[in-house]
Amino acid sequence: MSQRTLVLLKPDAVRRGLIGEIIGRIEAKAGWSVAALELRRLDGATLEQHYGEHKGKPFYEPLVAFMSSGPVVALVVEGERVIDGVRRLAGPTDPIEAAPGSIRGDYGTIVRENLIHASDSEESAVRELKLFFPEL
Ligand code: PPS
Repeated sequence: MSQRTLVLLKPDAVRRGLIGEIIGRIEAKAGWSVAALELRRLDGATLEQHYGEHKGKPFYEPLVAFMSSGPVVALVVEGERVIDGVRRLAGPTDPIEAAPGSIRGDYGTIVRENLIHASDSEESAVRELKLFFPEL
């Protein structure tokens, strides 16, 4: 089933020059493609809406500070089973637990600086796509 998902390349990925590498891994998957892409700085209101479900958790403030620390690349990726697929490609939240071959497993060490966000369900994808790309 063809789906759409929201992907954010986090400020660490942009600072480290990993945009091309990460998008290349996504584009290498058969039938997946980038439907929209933008480099942008996220404001407080957008981050509050995007991460609202985590408000009150100990990592919320550091997460928002980190996501405001530089530009991100926001992408719409579409293709067969892309919602679960991009999350598998990314690997688990903690890069040390992520297998080599995954994006976080190959490039990450710190939980906060885990390079990539991807919608975690169809419901989240609809909500996040509307927030980041309302015109689509
Ligand atoms: S939860 O509680 O299981 O839903 O949390 P999880 O899915 O693991 O993480 C939710 C997002 O918070 C980020 N995160 C952190 N950021 C900074 N510091 C710490 N310690 C931390 N722990 C989790 C995590 O990367 C998730 O962000 P996204 O953008 O969705 O990947």
